[in-house]
Amino acid sequence: MSAQIGPIGQCGLQDLPELLRLSRAQEWPHEEEDWRTILAAGEVFGHRSSASEMLSCAAMIPYGDSGSGPLVALGMIIVDSSARRQGLGQALMHEAIHRASSAAASSPLQLISTRDGRPLYEKHGFLQIEDLYSYRRPATDTRVVPADLERDQELCPLDETLKDAIIALDAAAFGHSRNRMLQQRIAQAERGLVLFDKAKPVGYGLLVQQGDLANLGPVIAPDDATALSIITGLMSTQSEGSAFRIDLPARQKALFPALESLGFTENDVPPIMLRSSGGAQTSNGLPEAHRHYYGIAAQAFG
Ligand SMILES: CC(C)(COP(=O)(O)OP(=O)(O)OC[C@H]1O[C@@H](n2cnc3c(N)ncnc32)[C@H](O)[C@@H]1OP(=O)(O)O)[C@@H](O)C(=O)NCCC(=O)NCCS
Repeated sequence: MSAQIGPIGQCGLQDLPELLRLSRAQEWPHEEEDWRTILAAGEVFGHRSSASEMLSCAAMIPYGDSGSGPLVALGMIIVDSSARRQGLGQALMHEAIHRASSAAASSPLQLISTRDGRPLYEKHGFLQIEDLYSYRRPATDTRVVPADLERDQELCPLDETLKDAIIALDAAAFGHSRNRMLQQRIAQAERGLVLFDKAKPVGYGLLVQQGDLANLGPVIAPDDATALSIITGLMSTQSEGSAFRIDLPARQKALFPALESLGFTENDVPPIMLRSSGGAQTSNGLPEAHRHYYGIAAQAFG
């Protein structure tokens, strides 16, 4: 088998069918559109067999400096089931660490791990910084009503003129500018809502459809009440019969009962893991700014 495995190479749009095959084999919900967004927002690499099939893949999405240095989100780490336990996973990690440390400013790496991936990441210096709660709401025939807003607040559709404002809001909440990824994700989204308070944008949310599943995120909001308004505002735009997903950092636990009363149930609790740039272990948790970070964009985006 090992004779058939080539070196790690860069992936592009021509690899979409193979990348989709790898993620579908994991029963991950990604569509071709998701892979297009990932390829446009960052870089994807992996091993190919001598017959040009992809045997592995990994994606790195670089985020910029917004006062707290760069960060790279690592995701979509998959080794084809026929090629596991031969060191391909380790080779992908070495490659990612090498690429992150050879960038102009050496970047910490962040990822959201599956149970399968965790031992591999721990071996390479990643440490859990927080739990992520992945919530799902099955399709029902009840349409969601948007939660009430305060008198000076309103929710407006996200349009071109508001893009820069929400990318800046996102950078303040996430701690790193995610301009390139967000430009792609906004283009992919079915809907976006911006929360205004006294005529100033203070929060936003996106809804990205993946087959029958409507993904809610990112959701950035000043507090729990406005986060719930953005979430229910996005849900109310979907017809009955739509299933929903939202993944929230554990620190947003105060919002979980409200989500449960909307019909969401906990589906999985994967760890958010970080490898600092020197590989030194640190477990300081997510930056303080993350208190406004309610829904992640997607696990592939860290
Ligand atoms: C997690 C995953 C990427 C690991 O890939 P992999 O190629 O099997 O990983 P490696 O071969 O490098 O290492 C896995 C194990 O095989 C062992 N191994 C490596 N080379 C070996 C060899 N030649 N013979 C026997 N075992 C070997 C490693 O020591 C390691 O052992 P451990 O589990 O006791 O630590 C793979 O299982 C996978 O794709 N899982 C499904 C998708 C997923 O969950 N991805 C993580 C997303 S966050």
